[in-house]
Amino acid sequence: MEIIERPEHLEPFRGCALVATMGALHEGHASLIRAAQASGVPVVVSVFVNPTQFGPTEDLARYPRTLDKDFKLAMRSGARALFAPSVEAIYPSGVYAASAEAAALQLPRVATEPQLEEAFRPTHFAGVCQVVARLFDLCEPSLALFGEKDFQQLRVISELVEQHPARWPGLTVAAAPTVREADGLAMSSRNRYLDPPQRALALAIFAALSEVARAPLRRDDIPDAEARMQQILSENALKKQYAVIRDAHSLTPVSAKTRHGRALIAASLGHVRLIDNVSISLGAHDSYIDKLF
Ligand code: PAJ
Repeated sequence: MEIIERPEHLEPFRGCALVATMGALHEGHASLIRAAQASGVPVVVSVFVNPTQFGPTEDLARYPRTLDKDFKLAMRSGARALFAPSVEAIYPSGVYAASAEAAALQLPRVATEPQLEEAFRPTHFAGVCQVVARLFDLCEPSLALFGEKDFQQLRVISELVEQHPARWPGLTVAAAPTVREADGLAMSSRNRYLDPPQRALALAIFAALSEVARAPLRRDDIPDAEARMQQILSENALKKQYAVIRDAHSLTPVSAKTRHGRALIAASLGHVRLIDNVSISLGAHDSYIDKLF
């Protein structure tokens, strides 16, 4: 396995399976690399802490950088190359110029309309789309794997690629399920910021999601289910940003047209912001009622 720093050295990897990351790799990333490897094409893992997706008060400066460990984990998981470019290689005209460029990118509706992440991180998806578009342009992958852990990001990138069939012809975006610790906490590079009492309280996020996912929900049940999630979070000192059940495709509120639901939570403990989500099955009852009226 090799480390590639310069974009021109990616040439032999055209058509690869790309796993884009910001490093600090853990088992969640490893599962994406293994899933990518199962496709049979060489896997490239990119490690780039993208400045343009962090807000001014966020953790860009202290985001963990562990390239040696990342290299070993990527190799163990079956990657053929680790692409670790400099900021200059990704943004040759400078990060400020790049931000303007990011703002000019046509963001998919699923980035802006649902009022989830963007309500709390207004410039985040512009930065994510900008860097992912740049990585796709440089790597020309045939497959790109993203985790359900960042469910809205996965939907945004899927739509971005659908909106640009000519820019990335033949590129498939695929999803991999969330990998959890034994007690249910979703693995995240940010879990290392939690002290032991916070680590225990963080479990309430998965507890809240599991409780509402236990049985199929009717549309009428959703407000109570959302209130229940919020209650579990606040009982455990978690500051809720959102705790909602949405249409899994558009991420807007569940409607008569919704086929699959998704419960999504963002909450913070001290300075640590955590997100997680699970699938929700919706009862058939609603569509029957809708047909009657
Ligand atoms: P990062 O947070 O490093 O995540 C890289 C990929 O790993 C994403 O697709 C994310 O959803 C997935 N991932 C993270 N934790 C996971 C878990 N517990 N189970 C399964 N998959 C998991 O997401 C980013 O980086 C960046 O925004 C990026 C797309 C690289 C653009 O900069």
